[in-house]
Amino acid sequence: APVKVRKICCIGAGYVGGPTCAVIALKCPHITVTIVDLNKARVDAWNSPDFDLPIYEPGLEDVVRQARGKNLFFSTDVDKGIEEADLIFVSVNTPTKKSGVGAGFAADLNYVELATRRIAAVANSSKIVVEKSTVPCRTAESMRTILEANSKPNCRFDILSNPEFLAEGTAIQDLFAPDRVLIGSLQTPEGKDACEALRSVYANWVPSERILTVGLWSSELSKLAANAMLAQRISSINALSAICEATGANIDEVAYAVGKDSRVGPKFLRASVGFGGSCFQKDILNLVYLSESLHLPEVAAYWRQVVEMNEYQKRRFSKRVVDTLFNTITGKKIAVLGFAFKADTGDTRESAAITLIKNFQAEKAFVTIYDPQVPHAQIWEDLKEASPHLTLEQIQKQVTITSSAVEACNKAEAVVIATEWKEFREIDWQDIHSRMSKPAFLFDGRLLVDAEKLRTIGFKVTTIGRGEVL
Ligand code: UDX
Ligand code: UDX
Ligand code: ADP
Repeated sequence: APVKVRKICCIGAGYVGGPTCAVIALKCPHITVTIVDLNKARVDAWNSPDFDLPIYEPGLEDVVRQARGKNLFFSTDVDKGIEEADLIFVSVNTPTKKSGVGAGFAADLNYVELATRRIAAVANSSKIVVEKSTVPCRTAESMRTILEANSKPNCRFDILSNPEFLAEGTAIQDLFAPDRVLIGSLQTPEGKDACEALRSVYANWVPSERILTVGLWSSELSKLAANAMLAQRISSINALSAICEATGANIDEVAYAVGKDSRVGPKFLRASVGFGGSCFQKDILNLVYLSESLHLPEVAAYWRQVVEMNEYQKRRFSKRVVDTLFNTITGKKIAVLGFAFKADTGDTRESAAITLIKNFQAEKAFVTIYDPQVPHAQIWEDLKEASPHLTLEQIQKQVTITSSAVEACNKAEAVVIATEWKEFREIDWQDIHSRMSKPAFLFDGRLLVDAEKLRTIGFKVTTIGRGEVL
């Protein structure tokens, strides 16, 4: 019969594990949830007395305030967390491999494997182990093999796949009212019991018709597929934005008309300077790698093109900036507004802004950056990683980070909007215009501003997906 879950341990207090398990604690007061992480600084931040949490996510602080110290705990004692739990989420990082076989494509499963081996080594009682990190297909199978080969007598391990579909910036909303919760298990009686145990945790707040139970591999593949298809929509609309720019059609109008077809739907059709985030590119590359290892080169090529279109979009936008500024930005001051990969997050992983700024640096421009959430140290770290051949001192000769949009735009020749922060919509553009060099150029990489209005102020406005009407 299914176990009744009383204690949950989550390994990994990051963007996925932190918010997910905080919400589980809030919604299940009868379950004790302990989130463990090896990174002491991160755990300390989760425990900070003034709720100075390690990640910025609207609504998260409120959830942590309500549950922390009651049935939600953060700790560096990984072993104790494992020992006490009936159910363990594995939410560790799975970055793309940087070297070795599959470098640049395959997921680095080292962290998952280490966490799994730790569970095997420490557990003295049966556990349900839930794969939460986005991982390639069949990772659950590897976890099962490791656990079974290392288990003690009277210890049973049941493996579930329960991919997380939250989007950053709306994580709490997504967790409170998910489109669906997906649980994959072996279709054995034990597998189904484990699945039921986790299902009953979510059933505390998720309507039962939204909790889908499927096979292990379908669950793992569904997560990759969902992200690949979402990213594909953006690459499709971005490919069309290039046609619009060349023809005078307007991508906003095209996207609206296309999205009105109920078979297509209106969401996720916003042309942009390119998608970012820790998931889309990584998951598609995983899918490409998987397809290749299954000897399906046509399938691999199909998905690879989604990522290539995204790279093209970033290149194309950078080139448009240079072309518009009379074919050179050498020595010119370019203000980049936004550094996060999307609004309402401080996360910068794979952010399009990083590529744009790197391109502007290569053209020898002076770049000023403003983002309302991203810590300056993070920006420096990202720029350093993007240009490994440069020292930080060299980068800082060309790049400045400011604490306001006005300061970034002061005396700039051009403003580039890279992230769709709401506050950029409310900027006093008249004031900004008066502070800029003339002609004052504005490049809207996010379809954010009212281009017509800015033109009446005097800006030369260039928008993604619209022909040149300077
Ligand atoms: C994504 C998935 O949405 C989520 O379900 C999954 O669990 C993790 O990956 P996330 O990366 O946090 O979430 O954010 P998302 O809102 O999907 O945005 C990804 C990128 O696409 C951002 O850079 C965003 O700006 C860009 N985007 C999104 C567009 O350019 N246009 C759009 O219409 C939508
Ligand atoms: C299509 C468009 O749907 C319609 O809006 C446009 O005006 C003309 O082109 P049509 O070609 O008549 O209409 O049929 P449609 O239902 O779109 O199917 C096209 C093909 O796709 C068919 O061969 C159909 O079997 C196939 N299809 C459709 C699938 O293989 N899978 C699906 O999920 C849907
Ligand atoms: P995600 O976006 O998938 O949540 P993050 O990088 O934000 O990824 O979070 C993953 C967390 O997992 C990190 O804080 C990292 O320190 C932690 N972690 C990785 N391996 C282990 C491990 N073996 N034991 C405990 N924590 C781990």
